[in-house]
Amino acid sequence: ARQLLLDCDPGLDDALAILLAHGDPNLDLVGVTTVGGNVDLATVTKNALELREYLGFPAVPVVAGAAQPLTRAARDAAHVHGAGGLGSVILPPATLPAHDGHAVDFIIETVRARPGTIHLVATGPLTNIALAVEREPALARWVASFTIMGGSYSRGNATPAAEFNIWADPEAARIVFDADWDVTMVGLDLTLQAQANKGVIERFTALGALADELIVPLSTFYFNPNVPDWDGQAVHDVCAVAYVARPDLFESRPARVDIETQGEFTTGMTVVDFDPALPNATVPTRLDVPGFWAYVESVYARVAAA
Ligand code: BDR
Ligand code: CA
Repeated sequence: ARQLLLDCDPGLDDALAILLAHGDPNLDLVGVTTVGGNVDLATVTKNALELREYLGFPAVPVVAGAAQPLTRAARDAAHVHGAGGLGSVILPPATLPAHDGHAVDFIIETVRARPGTIHLVATGPLTNIALAVEREPALARWVASFTIMGGSYSRGNATPAAEFNIWADPEAARIVFDADWDVTMVGLDLTLQAQANKGVIERFTALGALADELIVPLSTFYFNPNVPDWDGQAVHDVCAVAYVARPDLFESRPARVDIETQGEFTTGMTVVDFDPALPNATVPTRLDVPGFWAYVESVYARVAAA
C-alpha cells in the first residue's frame, strides 16, 4: 500500500478525501495534519479528530499546524463549508486529543524517517508545507510524491483568477512550487469534472448510515442548482487523494507553474505554462469520470460495510 500523509483543512471535501484515504486498502494513511483554511485551525482540527474516531482509525496521528497564512490575514471559506466546516454534519465529540507538537515538525520527521516512501498530499492552503520545506529543503527529495488540490489553468473560485487554497496563502504556494520537487497540481479544471450529480448521490444513498450521516450531507451541502455548469457539488480534494491511488484515471501534462503574489486583481493565480523550458509541475487535465466514481464508490462501500 502507498503511505499517504494528508495535510488538510476539513472542510466538506477534505472530509470526503479523508474517508477515501482511510478506506482504500491500497492506501495507508500515516498521518493527518491540519492547517487553518476553510475555517479556523481549532475547528478544522476538531473536525479531523472527530472524523478519526467516527471512522475508526484512532492510531493515526492528527497534528495541528499553522493557524495563519505566512504573511497575510486569514480569510476563510465558511460561506462554502458552514461555520463548523462540515456543513450540516455533526459528529460525536472526540475523546482522544491531537498529537503533541506541530504539524510542520511531524511532516518533516515522518518523511525523513522513511525517505522515498511517503506520498504527501495537501488539500488546504500550503502554509504548513511551505514552512516544512523551508526548514528542511531535503523534504522535497525525500517524498515519494507531492500532490496538491489547488490552483487552475483557466479561472478561479475565490476570485475570478485564483483558486481558494492558493489565494488563502499565495506566499506559501510560491515557496512550495519553487521547491526542488515536481508538484502535481490537481486544480479546478480537473476537480470540476468530479461533480457528485444525482446519479452519484443515489448510489451513495444506497450505502446506508455512513451515507446518511456523512457522505451525502458532505457532498450536497454547497450544491446550488442555479449555478450554470453545476451538475452536482465538486469533490475537489477527493481528486488529489485519488490521484495517488489511481493515477491511471488521470491524463496529465508537464507545466511550469508560477504563483502571482502581487497582482491587484490576480493575487493567488497559478500562471501555468504548458510549453515550459523548465517544468516544475505535473498538471492533470482530464479525469476518467465514470472510472473515478466507480473507484470512490467502491471504497466508500467498503467503509460502509465494515
Ligand atoms: C478548495 O478550497 C476549499 O474550500 C476546498 O476544501 C478545496 O480544498 C477548492 O477550491
Ligand atoms: Ca480543502
